[in-house]
Formats: sequence, C-alpha cells, structure tokens
Amino acid sequence: MVQPYNKSKSKKSEVRAMFNNIARNYDFLNHFFSLGIDVIWRKRVIRELSKYNPNLILDMATGTGDLAITAAQKLKKQIIGVDLSSEMIAVGNKKIAKKNLSQLIQLQVGDAEVIEFNDSTFDAVMVAFGVRNFENLELGLREIQRVLGENKPLLVLEFSKPTIFPVKQFFHFYSFNLLPFIGRLVSKDPRAYTYLPESIMAFPSGDEFITVMKNCGFSESRQIPLSGRIATLYIGEKK
Ligand SMILES: C[S@@+](CC[C@H](N)C(=O)[O-])C[C@H]1O[C@@H](n2cnc3c(N)ncnc32)[C@H](O)[C@@H]1O
Repeated sequence: MVQPYNKSKSKKSEVRAMFNNIARNYDFLNHFFSLGIDVIWRKRVIRELSKYNPNLILDMATGTGDLAITAAQKLKKQIIGVDLSSEMIAVGNKKIAKKNLSQLIQLQVGDAEVIEFNDSTFDAVMVAFGVRNFENLELGLREIQRVLGENKPLLVLEFSKPTIFPVKQFFHFYSFNLLPFIGRLVSKDPRAYTYLPESIMAFPSGDEFITVMKNCGFSESRQIPLSGRIATLYIGEKK
C-alpha cells in the first residue's frame, strides 16, 4: 500500500498528518499544480450532480471545501462536508464564512470508513481526490453506500492514468519530475508531492474502479474521462 511516510503507522494517521501539515498551502498548490484545470473538473461534477436534483449532499473528504463551495454556489442546497483533517476543515471554514455560505455548508471532522450518519441520510454523495487516500477503499465506499438513499448517486472525481500520446508522456514528466521539484521548494511537506504521483499509479482507475464500485453496491456505474483522462469522473447509483 502506498502511504505518505511509510513509517509503519496506519495509512489513515499518515494521511491525516500529511493534510494537517499542508493545509495552509493546499489551495494555492492545488490550483497551481493543476494549472487551474481542477476548477473546470469540479464544475463538471456539479453539472452531473444537478441532474439528480439533490436536497441534502455529503461532500466526503471535503478538504478545504472547494467542491462543497462550488455545489452551494450553483445549486443553493444543503451540503455537509466531512474530512479526517481538522486543519483542512479550519481553512475550509474560513473560506465558507468569507463567501457567506455558512447557511448552506457545514464542515465536520470525520472518517469515510465510519460515517456518523444514519442509513439513507443523503440524496447524493460526492468525493473529489479523496478515495485514493482512504486506508480501506471498499470500506469507505460501502459506508458511503449505506448513508445514501436508494437510487441516489455517488460522484467520484479522481486522478487516473492517461493512456494517449502526448498526454501520458506529459503527465508522467510533470507528476514525477516537475511536481516533486516544485513541491520541495514551496511546501512544508515535500513528501506530499512524491506521494501524489505514486498513489495515482497504484490506484485502480477506469474499468478497474468501476468494478470496485459495483462490488460496493453501486449500479449503473459509468465514467467520464476528463482532460485526456488525467482525471475521471465516476458516477454510480445505490442499488
Ligand atoms: C487531496 S485532498 C482533496 C480535498 C478536496 N476534496 C478537494 O477536492 O480539494 C484529500 C482529502 O481526503 C481526506 N481524507 C483522506 N482519507 C479520509 C477518510 N478516511 N475520511 C475522510 N477524509 C479523508 C484528507 O484529509 C484530505 O483532506
């Protein structure tokens, strides 16, 4: 299993520590490294989500809340954001207050693998760049399935592995060379930026991820490749 520090602690405690470390730089580095494309990807998630007309939405692994904020601005519905890292949540809460969205978005610390909500609570769940960091992917997806209402959607945005020339070559050079180099210069935690490409390579993508979703109780699962499959949006419905 690829984990941030490989210090024989659980992946979960290392992931929590890593995101607590990088929380203050996270937004800047996130947009910088993705060249701003993540904003377009998030809007696509919300466009697909809007087709289901959900009222109560869970943004699992919400981090600093960017996806929850985009959803609140576009859909004007109630969103609960949950994340392991209290520092990421603290940054998110400041942004939400600044944007006057506190009536719509509530953030709380919590774990995708043990979700503190009753069965069938939510009309939709979304996860952006979070599932790759779960310690136990299937446990997390099954918990998400449990708190979703019947036939309600899960939307997962995650990095995948581009296969076409020249996106594949560019992605490899960028993520294994340029990104760790810049990460070393500007981040408090350079390991975060070598963990990122390593964890992407080790994570199931495309049809493999669809199979995992099916195994965890999602039907009608489909995938939308984004930007030459640098990222993929997966959508499935609770059976
Ligand atoms: C790359 S960030 C993504 C944050 C945000 N969704 C975004 O799109 O910017 C991954 C987040 O997943 C969170 N995370 C990892 N494992 C988790 C778990 N088991 N339960 C809840 N959050 C988790 C981390 O704390 C981190 O904030």
